[in-house]
Amino acid sequence: MNWLFLAGVVVILLFSFVIVFGAPFLPTLKARTDEALELLDLKPGQTLTELGSGDGRILRAAAERGIYAIGYELNPLLVVWSKLIHWRHRRLITVHWGNYWRHKLPITDGIYVFLLNPFMEKLDKKITQEITQKVKVVSFAFAIPGKKPIKEMNGLMLYVYMPDTAVK
Ligand SMILES: C[S@@+](CC[C@H](N)C(=O)[O-])C[C@H]1O[C@@H](n2cnc3c(N)ncnc32)[C@H](O)[C@@H]1O
Repeated sequence: MNWLFLAGVVVILLFSFVIVFGAPFLPTLKARTDEALELLDLKPGQTLTELGSGDGRILRAAAERGIYAIGYELNPLLVVWSKLIHWRHRRLITVHWGNYWRHKLPITDGIYVFLLNPFMEKLDKKITQEITQKVKVVSFAFAIPGKKPIKEMNGLMLYVYMPDTAVK
């Protein structure tokens, strides 16, 4: 009984400590997942990066379209879970356990995020500083301050970032 209680406390802590670093786990609904990929309009062989990949549903939906999908997730239980359910698509999907603020963005064609308002400005800076090619970004629910979305669909906002020409 004590072990069960301890396990429960550990699970609650794992799901709540992420609030310090970003949004807590709240998955994107299936309909929004499809719409997000529609907005991103990535082609097979292109790469999608998801910051805070949760249970990996976006990564899986992308892989089913032949898109390489890279996720960063802080909660180790969600990392293990998503690796298990992605086994079939393991050639296309990579999930990194870690804090995405501490990882440089990989070379990517698209980015998907479902964060929280207080993190959107920091996200804008990160993308602006780190991309080396044109990147389409879809954010669910929270807008990027000072940027006008190119398209909007049911709470999903599409932005396009171009790399600046300064040497990085
Ligand atoms: C609102 S949920 C969205 C999950 C997934 N993107 C989706 O749309 O279904 C945010 C996710 O980001 C993760 N997260 C929050 N801050 C993070 C950070 N700094 N680094 C990595 N993952 C983070 C949380 O654990 C959670 O799974």
